[in-house]
Amino acid sequence: MAQRFGLSMSRVVYGMFIYKVLSSRAATNGVMTICLLLGLLVSGAAVADNATDKVIDKTDVPANGVLGRALSAAEVDALDRHIFADGAQLPDGQGSVEAGKEMYQQQCASCHGGRGEGGRALELVGDRALLVTEFPDKGIGVYWPYAPTLFEYIQRAMPPENPGLLTNDELYSLIGYLLYLNNLLPDYGTLNRYTLAAIELPNRDGFVDQYTFSNELEIEPVK
Ligand code: HEC
Repeated sequence: MAQRFGLSMSRVVYGMFIYKVLSSRAATNGVMTICLLLGLLVSGAAVADNATDKVIDKTDVPANGVLGRALSAAEVDALDRHIFADGAQLPDGQGSVEAGKEMYQQQCASCHGGRGEGGRALELVGDRALLVTEFPDKGIGVYWPYAPTLFEYIQRAMPPENPGLLTNDELYSLIGYLLYLNNLLPDYGTLNRYTLAAIELPNRDGFVDQYTFSNELEIEPVK
């Protein structure tokens, strides 16, 4: 419906445009009216051509009526990997703070600020004391209880316009640089699956386990 409206609006606008161009040269009202009709007709024909481009060709739909295809085992494997808080399922690969610094500037700084202080998007480095305030600071040092899960988050979600394309080595480097900015790795630091799992984030004990928490309070589970 919206599309129909859009097309007919463009037809009218285009028709009026031709009307205006021709009418500036026209001498009488009669000629102007003919021009308007002509304009609508010509533009209508053009739009009709465009419109047919948009029609879905029925031959695109498979004979059995089922769209899509089954994923290969490798594709399922790539999508179905979850990285746990203790580092289980972290992939092979390695990176360094130094390499991460440059990648961060190229791919992350435009939103998260030159040194993770935040900008268009939230901060990745910040004051560690503010989590109990009304507007808590969300730097990695306070907002994340475990370092390994950063890997899956960044891999799946960042940068937002192009997610899923960072390699394992690039991810280890970027996380290394972010941990360095949060004073959790030295500037010569490197990361792999074992060293990332061994990092203890400072606010690990500052979180409530929602399941234990609700049991203690005897909150009825949501039905
Ligand atoms: C186009 C802007 C943009 C770019 C570029 C970008 N991010 Fe983000 N990032 C966001 C936004 C927006 C959020 C918040 C998303 C949400 O809350 O759902 C976010 C959230 C995050 C978070 C979780 C927030 C937190 O408090 O810890 C991390 C970590 C992160 N980004 C890392 C990165 C890294 C690493 C890169 C570069 C590879 C990157 N981002 C590039 C916009 C961006």
